[in-house]
Amino acid sequence: MNDPTLVLRRARLDDVPFLARIDLAVDAEDVDDPDEPLYFKDWGEADFAAHRAKIAGFVTDADKTAWVCEDTAAGNLVGMILSRCHDSMRLAPAIARYLKLLIDEGVVPADEPFCEVFQLWVDPTVRRRGLASALKQVIEDDARACGGRFIYTHTRETNPHVVTLNLKLGYTVIRTGALWDDIARVSLIKSL
Ligand SMILES: CC(C)(COP(=O)(O)OP(=O)(O)OC[C@H]1O[C@@H](n2cnc3c(N)ncnc32)[C@H](O)[C@@H]1OP(=O)(O)O)[C@@H](O)C(=O)NCCC(=O)NCCS
Repeated sequence: MNDPTLVLRRARLDDVPFLARIDLAVDAEDVDDPDEPLYFKDWGEADFAAHRAKIAGFVTDADKTAWVCEDTAAGNLVGMILSRCHDSMRLAPAIARYLKLLIDEGVVPADEPFCEVFQLWVDPTVRRRGLASALKQVIEDDARACGGRFIYTHTRETNPHVVTLNLKLGYTVIRTGALWDDIARVSLIKSL
């Protein structure tokens, strides 16, 4: 990434509405089957507020990380990444459902601290300029600061470009298949 107008910085609380909006937009965009229900389809204002509070945690909590990319020329945000650190796969409570599978199958070290990429997005107008790669690289330092020994991420099998992106950054595919629903996902890790 060598455009000086695009600057990575830690997200602030006033970025939370942007982060929350993008988090849902990426999940909506990820759905390729028109019959697949969106989990926030029937949400009311209280649900959206709870979601914003959860996303704010990525800005405020010591074990979470949020970075944005600011287009300083245009004055808007054009990229974001959210990640969270865990003491171990075994102790990652919110995600235990799908991580349990990985532990049971022995494809991940179950008792090492690790960091999980929660969301990643780059604005279509600035894609293929290395922005996602740069965002993923900055969270590696955060992951190390949390004592993380590796980073975990997954994507739908229908997103081979995301797999390529991760492979270029040194990630390894550890598993392909359904995790918590019937959608095939590719799981990858990078040792730190
Ligand atoms: C996936 C995404 C984050 C990539 O962002 P980006 O800034 O364009 O990625 P980078 O420029 O760092 O790409 C690095 C490499 O990944 C691969 N890659 C990335 N996007 C690609 C695409 N659309 N097609 C093919 N290869 C792609 C390429 O090998 C690329 O290197 P190259 O441009 O030198 O060929 C972006 O397309 C996006 O926000 N998509 C929608 C949200 C999403 O899918 N998020 C990931 C959820 S798991």
